[in-house]
Amino acid sequence: MKDIKEKIQELSDQLNEHNRKYYVDSNPIISDYDFDMMMKELEALEKEYPQYKLPDSPTQRVGGFITSKFKQVKHEVPMISLANTYSQEEVVDFDTRLRKSIGDDFEYVCELKYDGLAISLIYEEGVLTTAITRGDGVVGDDVTANIKTINTIPLKLVGNYPKYLCVRGEIIMPHSSFIKLNVEKEEAGDQTFANPRNAASGTIKLQNSKEVAHRKLDFKLYSVTSDELTISNHYDSLKEARKWGFKISDFMAKCKSIDEVFDFIDYWDIHRKELDFDIDGIVVKINDFTLQEELGSTAKVPRWAIAYKFKAEAALTELLSVDYQVGRTGAITPVANLAPVQLAGTTVKRASLHNADIIEELDLHEHDFVYVEKGGEIIPKITGVELSKRKIDNKKIIFPEYCPACSAKLERNEGEAAHYCPNTKHCLPQIKGRIAHFTSRKAMNIANFGDETVSLLVDKNIIKDTADIYTLKYEDIFGLEREFHDEDNNFVRKISLKEKSTDNLIESIEESKKRAFYHVLFALGIRHIGETVSKKLTKYFKNIDNIINATFDDLIACDEIGEIIAGEIIEYFNDEDNIKLVDRLKSYGLTFSVDDLDSDNNFDDSKLKIDLKGKNVVVSGVFKNFSRDGIKDYLDSAGANVVSSISSKTDYVIAGENMGPAKLEKAKKLGVSILSENEIFE
Ligand code: IVH
Repeated sequence: MKDIKEKIQELSDQLNEHNRKYYVDSNPIISDYDFDMMMKELEALEKEYPQYKLPDSPTQRVGGFITSKFKQVKHEVPMISLANTYSQEEVVDFDTRLRKSIGDDFEYVCELKYDGLAISLIYEEGVLTTAITRGDGVVGDDVTANIKTINTIPLKLVGNYPKYLCVRGEIIMPHSSFIKLNVEKEEAGDQTFANPRNAASGTIKLQNSKEVAHRKLDFKLYSVTSDELTISNHYDSLKEARKWGFKISDFMAKCKSIDEVFDFIDYWDIHRKELDFDIDGIVVKINDFTLQEELGSTAKVPRWAIAYKFKAEAALTELLSVDYQVGRTGAITPVANLAPVQLAGTTVKRASLHNADIIEELDLHEHDFVYVEKGGEIIPKITGVELSKRKIDNKKIIFPEYCPACSAKLERNEGEAAHYCPNTKHCLPQIKGRIAHFTSRKAMNIANFGDETVSLLVDKNIIKDTADIYTLKYEDIFGLEREFHDEDNNFVRKISLKEKSTDNLIESIEESKKRAFYHVLFALGIRHIGETVSKKLTKYFKNIDNIINATFDDLIACDEIGEIIAGEIIEYFNDEDNIKLVDRLKSYGLTFSVDDLDSDNNFDDSKLKIDLKGKNVVVSGVFKNFSRDGIKDYLDSAGANVVSSISSKTDYVIAGENMGPAKLEKAKKLGVSILSENEIFE
């Protein structure tokens, strides 16, 4: 028995070490495959001998379900905030005040002000034991299981660490994770997050740490405290934390004068756009701990630090009206129509209002003058109302009680921000949305069957549901006059379908019958079933009947399927009409099973010159013989791990023409093999 215990200890230590080398040092020394094998071995041992599972076990990185609500825990030292300012004069005042009080013999540390949510981590004997959110500053939520999934947070410290340590920092969602998450949400018909901060805080409060792991959060450390520390200043304490296995920002600077502080501020006001995460300002701190103590804190904020916040580029414009769009899942999204205004180089005419709560928070009234801001690739949002411009008789904007399309009474589920129209079967935008989703590229990929065509065919009563697409004949489509509109819904032109386009459309419909099962399942448009979940389901259950007949417990046994998704699947197939729809689609010859002989769905990898199974591959540029997405899909089916950005973990870059020079240079620098399409395909 002792052997097993030792083996578990040894594997845990090694895996934690490899994790650190990979995520913190960006310098892995073993292959992903070897890492996965070690992890599997540890998982198996822990399953058989749960009594030996360690509190710092790396298997917790993958997460699981938390059944109860989060425990409330009191912070040993309250989490106070920072004095904030948008004015450079106030930073100068801060500096003057300090110099009067403690003289000139001190230095500042300038750091980025990360835009996420604050977290306090407790390490006892080097092991992460508790992670608490700020909460009200005195008491927060114990979110330890979720925090343990974040790879840059060590589960166990290395080196000469204090026995009892409190580390504080910000949980953030990198842009790359944020974009991926919102794409997945959109594909699954869920509401998207308005910004990375909301996404990070929504994620950390999830009751399913597996999903937390999937969303790839990150941690930015900004304070280290322990009674045992012999270090006398903040800067060195962070450097010390680096030795214990934490990832520390490369972007901090010691500054002697206020001019140097402003150099740092000015630099980052411009260069923040290049970071893969949001910052909303710069934090200026006195470096020396003794001086910090001497200055102390008010009830709310320390006197030794100040946060200078960047002004987001904003514009003031009039709210013309609010549209309520009905999505394919019935979710209602309010969209503000604005008087056109210039902002950060583009003309803004619309802004998403996301949901009823946001309208309420802004206390929006008709014809209000509103501030719009834009950040990175994120759509503009309304951040405030200029009350001085509000006329007395302007009416409050009231979120509708009834569906703007079909007049059904809207519903709102407990805990959800969105309102839904429950009239799934007869509400026109939902019907059209479902069909358009079905034909879309990642679903059945029926070319030339976009929103306009769908809308026209439904309005003319030629099709009523997705299965009707397969009954379409040449004469149903030939001569159809499609109206095209620009992004503001202004009519641009009418184009009628000619012979060739009609032939192509019919052929594309026929071709779609060969689409792999996971595309078909995704195309059905079941809520929360995005492309990734669909792949997991089809791989695990093999055919549609197994999914239809699966119980709740069967479903959650499948990797990445949680209670909510399982519930949606059960509900979908409990509806007789959906079963009939699937039966009709089956009768038209669509693919509803996975062939066991193939690695994925009816996949044939004989076209590949190189075995890419398990390899990390980046596809970039434009290709002669294939579409980029086609290549990605193909490589994914061949067992390659197709990722979007180049890192030291990347095995191959498949480069087409016009690959970005920065990407190319990075690949060369990291020594990644660069291959052309001819080098990998027969
Ligand atoms: S120091 C005693 N440093 O901003 C003060 N905070 O608006 C400890 N934040 O509560 C905070 N980046 O959640 C500090 N480099 C940084 C920060 C930072 C982001 C957050 C933190 C804090 C809030 C104050």
